[in-house]
Amino acid sequence: MLIRELRLLNFRNYKTLSVQFDPQINIFAGYNAQGKTNILEAIYLLAMGRSFRAVKDSEMITHDQSYSLVSGQVTTEATHTLELVLKRSGPKQFRFNKKDLPHKEFVGVFNVVLFTPDDLYLVKGSPGGRRRFLDWEISQVSTGYRSLLLDYYKVLQHRNSLLKSIAFENQDPKILEVWDQQLVELGSRLMTARADMIHKLGLLSRLMHRQISDGREDLELRYVPFFAADERISDGHKYDSQSIRSRFTEAVASFRTAEFKRGYSLVGPHRDDFQFVINGVDLKTFGSQGQQRTAILACRLAELEYMKSETGSYPTILLDDVTSELDQQRKHFLLRLLTKKIQTVITTTNISDFEPDLTNGAKVFHVSAGKVQERR
Ligand SMILES: Nc1ncnc2c1ncn2[C@@H]1O[C@H](COP(=O)(O)OP(=O)(O)OP(=O)(O)O)[C@@H](O)[C@H]1O
Ligand SMILES: [Mg+2]
Repeated sequence: MLIRELRLLNFRNYKTLSVQFDPQINIFAGYNAQGKTNILEAIYLLAMGRSFRAVKDSEMITHDQSYSLVSGQVTTEATHTLELVLKRSGPKQFRFNKKDLPHKEFVGVFNVVLFTPDDLYLVKGSPGGRRRFLDWEISQVSTGYRSLLLDYYKVLQHRNSLLKSIAFENQDPKILEVWDQQLVELGSRLMTARADMIHKLGLLSRLMHRQISDGREDLELRYVPFFAADERISDGHKYDSQSIRSRFTEAVASFRTAEFKRGYSLVGPHRDDFQFVINGVDLKTFGSQGQQRTAILACRLAELEYMKSETGSYPTILLDDVTSELDQQRKHFLLRLLTKKIQTVITTTNISDFEPDLTNGAKVFHVSAGKVQERR
């Protein structure tokens, strides 16, 4: 999987831009605030249909402009054109080879893995960030998952409004029955997919991590389904669809009274989490910053292999300013891995951070105030 070309119109500080990528290594170098990360953001948009940093889509439209256009040529088995239109008002539009496509089908045509200095949120942040990570990761490799997720949230919303009317308007609790069933049905399927993904990604992360830490530490990813949230450390058990369904059903029954009182859903995968565990200890609480960064690097590299195994081809890896965060040893490990089989797009303020080995074969671009020039 490759991105061949990126075109921008009114995107952040780019009035217009057209870049042709190398199938292997691409480096965007420049001072701060020149537009390097903006390029990764645009590529990421073509993969996910959403930004990794904008709170609102309209932030990405160039100041004073009314819309922005991001388009790219990507090669999977064939070459396709992906386009995204952002407007100040109204929803964004997605096109695949000039035809409109819903967001959920747009995701997964072209895949990326992003590694940024902000990634510490994965270990240190709230469960919500980790759930988003899971959901987008699985969505990239499975269209069915995205639909399931949207359906689940519709049911959840409806169930919440019913619980509210039971709690505050004395509605008959019987109206909930069919929605309980839906919640368990859709929710269990989501959870099974999450358990499966964490299991696979966990095995791969562990292998990567062994290599980075010279086999001194043992990393595990552990799924923490909402019904196991009180266990301080999840037992690492691999949940199957049957155990998920039955524990979900039990939870619905045992939280019934509490839900009637509070007026919203206390059960369901919208309360799931997962943990990074090293040598049996939760990294969020007990890990050093270095251990947390190493675990995340291992997880990101594992994602490459995970996607390859799920889709048959490697995603493009986007590395935002990584050399500023990694120590020498981890930097070397990462850069050694950037072999020719994975297309890589790197941003840096300091090109001399990279060995000539890497830069010699790479396509290098200079970014300055929203203009990009290839170094020859
Ligand atoms: N909607 C927008 N319209 C116009 N310019 C914007 C918009 N959003 C951001 N910018 C500009 O884009 C620039 C930041 O781009 P970007 O984040 O890509 O920088 P960078 O080169 O990655 O810098 P750093 O090295 O600090 O990470 C800033 O100059 C900012 O003012
Ligand atoms: Mg940046």
